[in-house]
Amino acid sequence: MDWGLKNRLSQIIKPQNNRALMLAVDHGYFLGPTEKLENPKKVIAPLLKYCDSLMLTRGVQRTSVPTSTNVPMVLRVSGGSSIIGEDLSQEEITVSIKDAIRLNASALAMSIFVGSKYEHQTIVNLGKLVNEAEEYGIPVLAVTAVGKELGKDARYLSLACRIAAEQGAHIVKTYYCDNFDKVVQSCPVPIIVAGGKKIPEIDALQLTYNSIKGGAVGVDMGRNIWQSENPVAMIRAVRHIVHGNATVDQAFKLYQTLRNEKTQQTKPQHKSNQPTQTKPQHKSNQPTQTKPKPVANKK
Ligand code: R5P
Repeated sequence: MDWGLKNRLSQIIKPQNNRALMLAVDHGYFLGPTEKLENPKKVIAPLLKYCDSLMLTRGVQRTSVPTSTNVPMVLRVSGGSSIIGEDLSQEEITVSIKDAIRLNASALAMSIFVGSKYEHQTIVNLGKLVNEAEEYGIPVLAVTAVGKELGKDARYLSLACRIAAEQGAHIVKTYYCDNFDKVVQSCPVPIIVAGGKKIPEIDALQLTYNSIKGGAVGVDMGRNIWQSENPVAMIRAVRHIVHGNATVDQAFKLYQTLRNEKTQQTKPQHKSNQPTQTKPQHKSNQPTQTKPKPVANKK
């Protein structure tokens, strides 16, 4: 693997603990103005310093991210369908490698739709994208998108992740599922877990915890952060698990503390006595909670 590619990968998956916290804000590429992401600039600004990388489209990057940022960009380069169109799986590569380089992308992201009508097209496109990206030392993240009719179980997700890795993807994004460790074990490249539809904060923290416990390097989370009642508190709680090895309870307490502080700030007559827990409590790479609890994760 070339130096440049390794260097870019290390911007996304932190070498000190092999973990990654990506903030996903690319939803508009097929959903348009997604709820609570109507104004990406406002959403991104307070969250940027808490993520390791930002997953987004070139349009949002150019219009809504300060050029002064040091946060690595994972640029979505696929598209071509919409939520009201005929088939979401009919995607093509829409961004040239030159434009990705102009945007200083640290990685390129695209979806493959295994088991769908346009499976062939998207898998071939992944191979072609890897060919081009490798020329310039840019890693490719493959998103294993799931058609409505397909189940998100370990058998299907293992198939999709393995196919992505076999085509040369350097990171694969997928969903958490029962027997998730089997998905991880049969995929030779790092796996990152998508957050999925908004669920209660504690469940999203459980999902984060379970994903890491199951062998993922981290999460690429969107809606469960910026659709939260308090997005900053939520991303900091997720970070507490990903980089601080916190348990779900510890992370949820941090979320509550930060959320309550915000509430107190809006009522100047009261001052919070709750300490803000900002530092990771554990140094081990293994989360301390032993048994992952099940979590609802339906897209
Ligand atoms: C799909 O639109 C994108 O690939 C998202 O980046 C991905 O689904 C992660 O976002 P969320 O946590 O909202 O599922």
